[in-house]
Amino acid sequence: MLNADDIETAADIIKKGGLVAIPTETVYGLAADALNGKAVSKIFKAKGRPADNPLIIHIADTSQINMLVSDFPEKARTLAKKFWPGPLTVILPKSDLVPDEVSAGLDTVAVRCPSNITARQLIKLSSPLAAPSANRSGRPSPTNAQHVFDDMNGRIDAILNGGECDVGVESTVITLADSTPRLLRPGKITVEQLRETIGEVIVDDAVINPLGADKKAASPGMKYKHYSPKANVILLKGGRELFCKYVNKQVDKNAAVLCYDEEIENITIPYISVGRSNDYDTQARKLFSSLRKADEYGFKTVYAHCPGTEGEELAIYNRIIRAAGFEVTNLEG
Ligand code: TXA
Ligand code: MG
Repeated sequence: MLNADDIETAADIIKKGGLVAIPTETVYGLAADALNGKAVSKIFKAKGRPADNPLIIHIADTSQINMLVSDFPEKARTLAKKFWPGPLTVILPKSDLVPDEVSAGLDTVAVRCPSNITARQLIKLSSPLAAPSANRSGRPSPTNAQHVFDDMNGRIDAILNGGECDVGVESTVITLADSTPRLLRPGKITVEQLRETIGEVIVDDAVINPLGADKKAASPGMKYKHYSPKANVILLKGGRELFCKYVNKQVDKNAAVLCYDEEIENITIPYISVGRSNDYDTQARKLFSSLRKADEYGFKTVYAHCPGTEGEELAIYNRIIRAAGFEVTNLEG
């Protein structure tokens, strides 16, 4: 696999219908020319992604959205103006130009303008890019080029190395295709920020709860198992003292804990620190790489704090609750 260290090489691969892993501010994406259905279908094969799970189209500036959607309503314009370039994806009715492979048969399309400059330069030199996270389906999203290599070596044409991702969790996804805007996936841009900007925003049930067997997912990606390391993730709810006491009792030498910086000195089992307890930016940035690290070290069980569900913590909660199969152990009894 080529390490495409220059953007021109990457653009050539894209224009020829190939696959390039690209850095974005959230996580690495696996990109193909969004207007080339055949190229896009290779993404599904490389990831092992179910064909009914649609992709996000990445654009270089807001003007490029016009060819992709059949309607660009006021609220979407307001969001784009405030949050683009940045980690926000909006879903709108699609135009005829968007291949079925991108929208997985839906009549809507997800679009975002990433803030990562390398990504936007590549789009300018090639075309809008369809790109899901560049992990094998079900695995934690990749936040550096090595993660992409570990999952995708031999399955894609090149990786454009842009160092570590800033945000670490995928973009906030909001649909504006229904009468009331609805949050489908929480991210760095919070639902509180979205409400301040456009008023009422509903939080889709599947953001917090497991999808009932009888329910149809608003966002097809939400029905699949996600973010899973090989290790068994166990979420614990309770104060610092209870948390440390509980994990220190675990004598299984294959167990580790994702802890906060302030707890390190009180932890007696192997640990991976995810940042200070009130530093949600750092916790988000380190989440997926910590889960991957736990696998690398061969841990079979990973204990972690159950995050809160307000503000930026909702994004962390949404990912780790899936990694833990929606189970939480309450230490407060
Ligand atoms: O930050 C991100 O969004 C990263 C980077 C690479 O941009 N991309 C990403 O893509 O996370 P992916 O494919 O892993 O997640 C996209 C999510 C999926 O849950 C998918 O089902 C949903 O967005 N989605 C895409 N198009 C949709 C549509 N038309 N309607 C509803 N949900 C959609
Ligand atoms: Mg993904």
